Amino acid sequence: MPRSYDRLVTGNGLSEGEVYGRIGEDGFARLVAAFYAQVPQDEVLGQMYPKGDLAGAELRLREFLVGRFGGPPRYEEARGHPRLRMRHHPFRLDQRARDHWVALMDRALEQAALPADAELVLREFFHQTATFLINARD
Ligand code: HEM
Repeated sequence: MPRSYDRLVTGNGLSEGEVYGRIGEDGFARLVAAFYAQVPQDEVLGQMYPKGDLAGAELRLREFLVGRFGGPPRYEEARGHPRLRMRHHPFRLDQRARDHWVALMDRALEQAALPADAELVLREFFHQTATFLINARD
């Protein structure tokens, strides 16, 4: 079956592994910078992230996404297997925190103005992963 038909059937133009090739380092950098620019003012997330090391947190998310979406595996080289649920264990991640995180990321996606096919893949991934990471009741 030709690949284009495959994509038509899934309704998804780009596979996850192709996103890095489409938006490059710069696309991830702009997206993650737009996300973290909003974190300090957020009433839920502002308290949660390390105030003195927002730049470090920004780097970790950026490197993770680059590796996850087909770019060089620098995150795993530096930090090992992501084990995201385990790494979020110290934080109280209820539905409200999840919704704040997703709202900030949706806004960041708008600001970064990425190609529509890449944006769709990323948005779906963020929504699903954020839900999967919930570890507390509201
Ligand atoms: C659902 C709401 C979420 C909240 C409230 C949240 C909160 C946090 C916080 C407070 C940190 C510590 C910051 C730091 O690195 O020093 C963190 C780390 C991280 N988060 Fe999230 N997060 C959420 C969802 C997500 C999602 C959806 C992803 C994946 C796209 C993600 C990926 C990461 C990564 C890769 C790290 C760094 C882990 C490490 O290497 O230590 N997070 N998160």
